[in-house]
Amino acid sequence: MKMFRIRPPEPQDEAALVDLSLHFAGESDWTSTIPIGQIDTLEKAHQRLFGEQVLSVVVAENDQGKMIGYIGIYRTEHNPYASILVHKEYRLRGLGRALVEQAFEKLPPGLTVEAWVGAFNHLSLAATPRLGFHWDHSVEVDGRTLNIFIRQSE
Ligand SMILES: CC(C)(COP(=O)(O)OP(=O)(O)OC[C@H]1O[C@@H](n2cnc3c(N)ncnc32)[C@H](O)[C@@H]1OP(=O)(O)O)[C@@H](O)C(=O)NCCC(=O)NCCS
Repeated sequence: MKMFRIRPPEPQDEAALVDLSLHFAGESDWTSTIPIGQIDTLEKAHQRLFGEQVLSVVVAENDQGKMIGYIGIYRTEHNPYASILVHKEYRLRGLGRALVEQAFEKLPPGLTVEAWVGAFNHLSLAATPRLGFHWDHSVEVDGRTLNIFIRQSE
């Protein structure tokens, strides 16, 4: 069984987050077209892990210390939004759920956190409702349908 540990981000995670995102970008033809597959510089990774918009970030590493998962929840002018990625080889083992729960624990209560999921992203469309979010509405962006799910912090 593959084990994992969840912890706050550290400075050396910037390069690891770029690697994780680039690996995802190579998974299929659309994965490089969504933000989680576009963390291709250390500066972008820095913003994701330590930027001013961060409300909550946790990462997961395997038993060799390699980053295998990440979640960030970020403030915006409107509702905060969540961004999550689990390495392909470690999906469907409860890691996504553990990341979501630990990230939400660090939030103040009463926030409505959004998750934006493309209609083409079947993995996330299946997983997001099982991670405590419920579908709220859809929008069209650049000819694509995005589903907006929400979850309240407690
Ligand atoms: C979405 C994602 C983070 C889920 O991570 P994960 O580690 O596989 O999730 P878990 O193993 O904790 O599963 C959580 C729940 O979702 C369900 N689930 C996850 N992936 C699923 C799939 N492909 N099909 C059906 N159900 C799925 C699990 O069965 C589980 O539900 P249950 O406990 O009620 O049975 C992962 O698929 C991923 O990284 N996807 C690519 C990145 C992405 O699209 N991110 C969202 C945009 S920011």
